[in-house]
Amino acid sequence: MIFWHWLILWILLGGWIFLLFLYFFHLFMSLRQKKAPYIGSYPRHLRLMKQKLFLAPGESLIDLGCGDGKALRFFSRYFPITHLVWCDTNRFALWRGRFLNRFFPFADRLSLRYGDIKAQDISWYDYIYMFLFPHYMEDLEERIFASMKEGAVVVVNTFPFPWREPDQIIKDQQWREVIFLYTKKNKQLC
Ligand SMILES: C[S@@+](CC[C@H](N)C(=O)[O-])C[C@H]1O[C@@H](n2cnc3c(N)ncnc32)[C@H](O)[C@@H]1O
Repeated sequence: MIFWHWLILWILLGGWIFLLFLYFFHLFMSLRQKKAPYIGSYPRHLRLMKQKLFLAPGESLIDLGCGDGKALRFFSRYFPITHLVWCDTNRFALWRGRFLNRFFPFADRLSLRYGDIKAQDISWYDYIYMFLFPHYMEDLEERIFASMKEGAVVVVNTFPFPWREPDQIIKDQQWREVIFLYTKKNKQLC
């Protein structure tokens, strides 16, 4: 009996070490290929959005560079959005996201795509969520505002677009600017 307990323990431990190894391998390869590594939205930022953001019911949202879909699971849990799409080129994060979605109650509202941000047609989404490093924001700024539809809202986490003034900024309790909201035209959002 004791033998089986030990065996199971060692198998579980081995599994964790293997996953950890895969994660660091992926991180190393991403950095080597000069690709952005996957870092999920921070829980404190998600809590802030839950408190301060209003997203209209029945609308659609795309997460550009979704990683494992952490932010989208958050949006589908706390906002009445009906159609949520995510895209990423990081296969490891997508694989992890597909696995996590098996246990997620609102997974039927999410659809996952392998794909480059630049190849996405964002023209019919009501909300566009982005949590990307500054050089990606700079690179994507013109494209996003040229192809988003009138009335759509871009919700940017942490790193704002470098050249454009946000319509609204949501600050955390320490008065740090965290969430930046953009539209084609200015309007009050929350
Ligand atoms: C900081 S993570 C954000 C993850 C997720 N949006 C969240 O908030 O939890 C940035 C993600 O963008 C992805 N990414 C960066 N450039 C991309 C591109 N050109 N096309 C698709 N995905 C990209 C990276 O693979 C990474 O997973």
